[in-house]
Amino acid sequence: MTDPDLANIQERALAEIRAAATLAELEAARVAHTGRRSPLAETLAGIGGLPPDRRGVVGKAANLARRAVEQALATRTEELEAEEMGAALERDATDVTLPGDPHPLGALHPITQVRQEMEDILLALGYRISDGPEVETEWHNFTALNTPAGHPARSPSDTFFVDGRPDRMLRTQTSPVQVREMQQSQPPIYLVAPGVVYRRDDIDATHSPMFHQMEGLAVDEGLTMAHLKGTMLHFFRELLGSEREILLQPHFFPFTEPSVDVQVSYIDKNGRPAWLELAGAGMVDPNVLESCGIDSERYTGFAFGCGLDRIAMIRFGVPDLRLFFENDLRFLEQFA
Ligand code: DAH
Repeated sequence: MTDPDLANIQERALAEIRAAATLAELEAARVAHTGRRSPLAETLAGIGGLPPDRRGVVGKAANLARRAVEQALATRTEELEAEEMGAALERDATDVTLPGDPHPLGALHPITQVRQEMEDILLALGYRISDGPEVETEWHNFTALNTPAGHPARSPSDTFFVDGRPDRMLRTQTSPVQVREMQQSQPPIYLVAPGVVYRRDDIDATHSPMFHQMEGLAVDEGLTMAHLKGTMLHFFRELLGSEREILLQPHFFPFTEPSVDVQVSYIDKNGRPAWLELAGAGMVDPNVLESCGIDSERYTGFAFGCGLDRIAMIRFGVPDLRLFFENDLRFLEQFA
């Protein structure tokens, strides 16, 4: 056995090890080049039989060759294991032990949140939720609500009429839901009707041609202004805090008599107590009850209506109404 022979043995072993494309091929190369029958093993085993002056040289060269081959085997094993693991992962692309992709959670729009809170307060008092069409007849939106022809609200400069028809319009208030309900059912009636309304207004920080209102209506025997006041006090304390007081100021609405503005106490930015006008209300005008087929001698009722957007602005400290309608996620995500 000469040094060039050992160099050849090592060369061939390394070449075959590097060429192994699978762990099985590598195992075959390991047996062939380091097994008991391998040229390298036989060389090492034959050292004892060599002439004494050759033993040291050949022994050293054979051991170096063995170490190189073992090192190459270890390296190639690692490479092939990594490749096979990668291939297995690709084959079963779903690894249920890996953490999932995060899904951003949605949130209710702030107007929806406030609407649901308002509904809940009134549902707890025994009211039910009602709804009406957004495209209304002029009769439901105005006439039946005691708003005479010629009233400025009925002018096309304030109201969106539909298809050029004078009797078909986008409702300007949720009050026509009162009319539709009273036509359909007899007292006791306790309903709350949230929804979208439309008016010809230019858009700015506090106005929009489309906004939200919520209407309340109670018709029963023996209802008085005291019931209206108690309901409003409870409603605004539940919604905005138990420290609130309310003030009813005389006002005019065509469909209620007497009519009031409901003002709610708050602390202004200078720390002084002040009043915020948050709802319109009143005792349902007997004319309205009669035009809906309800006996105004037997029954009385009260009604109230408020702007949802305005209350949401106060509730969440939002300075500009337009933010509610622009769908900017940076704004909306704050309510998640
Ligand atoms: N519909 C009125 C408006 O849009 C608000 C309102 C006032 C509703 C008094 C009522 C009420 O039910 O009694 O300005």
